[in-house]
Amino acid sequence: MTSFFGKVLVIDTNFKFVESIKEEGKLLSDYPCVFCKTFTDATQILKQTKLNIRVVFISHKVGDTNGSDEFHKIRKINEKIPIVLVVHNPERASKDIEENNPGFSNILRGPKKFSTLTNEIDRMFTSNETWTDVQATQEAKDVELSLADESYISLRLDDFIMSEKSYFNVFIKIGPSKFVKILNAGDPLNESVIEKYSQKNFTHFYLSVEEHNKYLRLCEEIAKRDARSQSAESKTKLRNVINLGSNIAQSLLHSGINQEKLDMANTFLNHSVTLIKGMKMKNESLKRFIETIESKEHTATVSFLAGMIANEVGIESLKAIKIVGTAALLHDVGLYSLSPDFKEEDFESLSESNQTIFNQHPSYGADILRKNGGFDEVVIQAVEMHHMRRKGLNGTQRSTNMTTVAEIIGAADELHNIVLTKHADEVTIQNYMKKYLKNFSQDIERAVLKILNKKAT
Ligand SMILES: [Fe+2]
Ligand SMILES: [Fe+2]
Repeated sequence: MTSFFGKVLVIDTNFKFVESIKEEGKLLSDYPCVFCKTFTDATQILKQTKLNIRVVFISHKVGDTNGSDEFHKIRKINEKIPIVLVVHNPERASKDIEENNPGFSNILRGPKKFSTLTNEIDRMFTSNETWTDVQATQEAKDVELSLADESYISLRLDDFIMSEKSYFNVFIKIGPSKFVKILNAGDPLNESVIEKYSQKNFTHFYLSVEEHNKYLRLCEEIAKRDARSQSAESKTKLRNVINLGSNIAQSLLHSGINQEKLDMANTFLNHSVTLIKGMKMKNESLKRFIETIESKEHTATVSFLAGMIANEVGIESLKAIKIVGTAALLHDVGLYSLSPDFKEEDFESLSESNQTIFNQHPSYGADILRKNGGFDEVVIQAVEMHHMRRKGLNGTQRSTNMTTVAEIIGAADELHNIVLTKHADEVTIQNYMKKYLKNFSQDIERAVLKILNKKAT
């Protein structure tokens, strides 16, 4: 599956080749493409930031200069985008195309299949970043340090990935801007370290933002390894995938949205869709996994739950489920920007000032995404409306004009806040079904009941 968030632009007049790509439905849904035949159209497409074109394949036949003029024109629109030249019928093409290469990332001679392009994409977008090269940093261990809060990201202590030696410099936080370094990269690491801090009621470890990026790669590797393994249990796979998502969500919320992180989010969504489909195939209901995910990081869990509901509602295509998953991962981005420590789950007992924050966060979040660009309008709208309901509630919180995606995010959000974080006992589930779930469209209600393995009341 594609390792980036966005689309591929194919500028090609070769009808046969373009048609052969369009026939590869499965691969095309993994690597969404936009096609055009003329460079004028290509220019228009590249200027539309919401299409989020990430790589361009251009046939050498599109202009008169073997793609060279077009290359420079694309560079004027986008300084960095990788551009690959496609040479059909290489035996007839001029021999010096390679010698006069103005800066194409690669030149593909005579590709017959879409997979030649997708292999090239994988090669370009697969990160080589490793987590094994982190060195011990200079701060002293076991003493109070004054460090900038925004330079450190928290990770749940009970999800911390174990290794014989710590790959990272690990900190605990003892107050605002007050940290203690507990491990240097290279120090021995075992369960007793985790236990020691857990007994002292620490719930999170902290890594610097730079090291956290490498930690994300480690989470991704573990998720990938277990996803392939026949012997790994669904619960372990689910734990890994949600852990990956949680760390990506932390990073997205903490240090802002950027392309690299959205690419990581895309990897999480790929894993989560595979897992959801696998669970559905085995007829496994959410109930079996509840204790695995009950108190995990909010947005990654909501994203996974939203994927489950979407699948149950009949949204099958990878692209559509990813739209749901992306919207879910970012649904509270406004809340975090307004107040990083705000816990949405306590909304029944909000103070007046917190109520104001709470009321603003959906539209504030939508604004952040709009400014960022590159998001599908459906994603933005879902973020904007995730606290609106189709039924019940009072006038300002009710709308009959909601997309299914917005409703799915709302349902997944409440499922996590109201049911899972409260340990999902029977009374809580019944209350949720009667008081909250009824506010959604019938097909959403049905889908949620199905994943909870419940009958309608
Ligand atoms: Fe929210
Ligand atoms: Fe939420």
